[in-house]
Amino acid sequence: MREISPREIDKNAIKLISEDWALLTAGSADGWNTMTVSWGGIGELWGKDVAFVFVRPQRYTKEFIDNSEYFTLSFFDDSYKGALRVCGAKSGRDIDKSKEAGITPVFENGTAYLEQANLVLLCKKLYSQDMTPDCFLDKSIITDNYKANDFHTTYVGEIIKVLKKD
Ligand SMILES: Cc1cc2nc3c(=O)[nH]c(=O)nc-3n(C[C@H](O)[C@H](O)[C@H](O)COP(=O)(O)O)c2cc1C
Repeated sequence: MREISPREIDKNAIKLISEDWALLTAGSADGWNTMTVSWGGIGELWGKDVAFVFVRPQRYTKEFIDNSEYFTLSFFDDSYKGALRVCGAKSGRDIDKSKEAGITPVFENGTAYLEQANLVLLCKKLYSQDMTPDCFLDKSIITDNYKANDFHTTYVGEIIKVLKKD
């Protein structure tokens, strides 16, 4: 893996998250977890390069994000789609994702990412906020997405390092 600047990420940002998906990871060698995400993005906020993700309250990974200063987003080539399906269907509370998905954590900077990734964003948390029903201007989004009242928490992180596999 070599370090590149966030400006050198040359993939379409929407496709990257919505089609390729990513593993959102947090924690350290003392305890970590990862889950698949396909909603989120990268961009610019407060004069900083940022990534933002949306996590439902029941996700085990959320506990690690909330207890960490950092989170990471790891992107993979197509051959890992099966691994991402596993990490997006089962909880780290019930299975060893590392074993079942064939992924290996790398611990760096007080956080964790996956060795098999071809692109990694290391992010320092800047902001988190729970979504609330009153803030939805289009109420159909609530009906369509939050039948269980499990509103996402938004996390915005400053991209402090980008690693790329050539
Ligand atoms: C393609 C895909 C995308 C997903 N995107 C998100 C997401 O953006 N936010 C979220 O909270 N859950 C998302 N999930 C669901 C979690 O990945 C899933 O519930 C996972 O099992 C949580 O694992 P955990 O309990 O170990 O954290 C997605 C699942 C899949 C398959």
